[in-house]
Amino acid sequence: MGRPATLRIRGVRPHLAPYTENVSAASDTLAESAGRQPSVGTSRRPARRLEVAAIKSDFPVLDRQEGDDLVFLDSAASSQKPIAVIEAMDHYYRTSHANVHRGVYRLAEQATNLYEAARSKVGRFVGASDPSREIVFTKNATEALNLAVRSWGRANLRQGDAVLLTEIEHHANLVPWLMLAEEIGVELRYLRVMSDGELDLSQLEQKMTGARVVSFTLCSNVLGTLVPVEPIVSAARAAGATVIADGAQFVPHMRTNVRELGIDMLAFTGHKMLGPTGVGVLWGKAEVLESMPPFLGGGEMISDVRLDGFTPAELPLKFEAGTPPIAEAIGLGAAVDYLDGLGMEAVRAHELQLVEYAMRRLAEDHGDRLKIHGPQDPERRGGVLSMELEGVHAHDLSQVLDSRGVCIRAGHHCAKPLMRCLRVGATARASLYVYNDESDVDALSAALSEASAFFGLR
Ligand code: ALA
Repeated sequence: MGRPATLRIRGVRPHLAPYTENVSAASDTLAESAGRQPSVGTSRRPARRLEVAAIKSDFPVLDRQEGDDLVFLDSAASSQKPIAVIEAMDHYYRTSHANVHRGVYRLAEQATNLYEAARSKVGRFVGASDPSREIVFTKNATEALNLAVRSWGRANLRQGDAVLLTEIEHHANLVPWLMLAEEIGVELRYLRVMSDGELDLSQLEQKMTGARVVSFTLCSNVLGTLVPVEPIVSAARAAGATVIADGAQFVPHMRTNVRELGIDMLAFTGHKMLGPTGVGVLWGKAEVLESMPPFLGGGEMISDVRLDGFTPAELPLKFEAGTPPIAEAIGLGAAVDYLDGLGMEAVRAHELQLVEYAMRRLAEDHGDRLKIHGPQDPERRGGVLSMELEGVHAHDLSQVLDSRGVCIRAGHHCAKPLMRCLRVGATARASLYVYNDESDVDALSAALSEASAFFGLR
């Protein structure tokens, strides 16, 4: 066998500058205002400032020259990938690929070791107590949520049982429950969203009464709302309800510790956190996952198969039917290393500062013509800005912005019930990440001014 597949992560440490006071202060106040434990997503350690110019140079696609410079503001849909992730996957395919958990030759063992090392990294990243059993690799967050709903739901819910959701859920945390409701007749209840983008928790206890499970997003992909986890988890514990969290828009941006959050299962995806497409994660407490039946059947997920039945494998393979996303998991492991190198407190502090800047700048430049949905306090939100420009359809706006190299997402953002609550068909959503800085916001604002002129707005 050739050299061992040690994966070198390039250019992370130099991307941090010394701590600056207002960044740390912003970071520290976030958790309190979000009604969460201070240690979730932030800590009392001072956040360092990200060196965005250096970070940008790690992302080859940002060098793309095609007319205007690329201004990528669609990371909530899918983030870009640093060289470290691209190289980790390339290196794996060049040196170490074989199927995992099957062959007893050295190449296969090496592939298995890399795959399992990625599981450990991802588990550590979200604070899992036992990554080797509690981290299940799936195709994406949607599959992770389907796994949780179908497996846990079918095993634990009966007709008439209540399930508590919220009006701000992505379809991935709605449609599987609607399917289950059709199949076995569970009752779906919803925490309402208020006009300021916050959830109405005034009826939390009442709606939780008798609920068997609560499933909610930690951060809205449309409004950016950071959902107050602590009161929901407390109410769930008092009611004896299981807690499932959709972390697709949270884990990439905030320090995440599943034990501090107090939840039972967490779904998230690789491609929104600098990793590749094709890999997602379901974390679950070992005892919860143990109690759940397999979701998909096939190879890999069994310990024995007879013509009259089968015995499932131990965790986590029980939930990983078929050949898993090996290279993708390894790429996700490299993404986790990259984010760890930046420090998630620094990531959050950077995004908070950038959201503050964006909201101020867009209000100054566009006034009442531009509406930004969701909480107006930057500390109450993540890095997504769902915009409506007076009288201009989001798709038309997006096309004009694209002509200036500015990439945003236009549409219903896979959250049609929320769109109905907002009384809009679509919004134009800009979303920020570690490689964005004030120049990207300035480019967005300038492109919005051009769009206003183009559409003849005052
Ligand atoms: N769920 C992703 C988004 O919000 C695709 O854009």
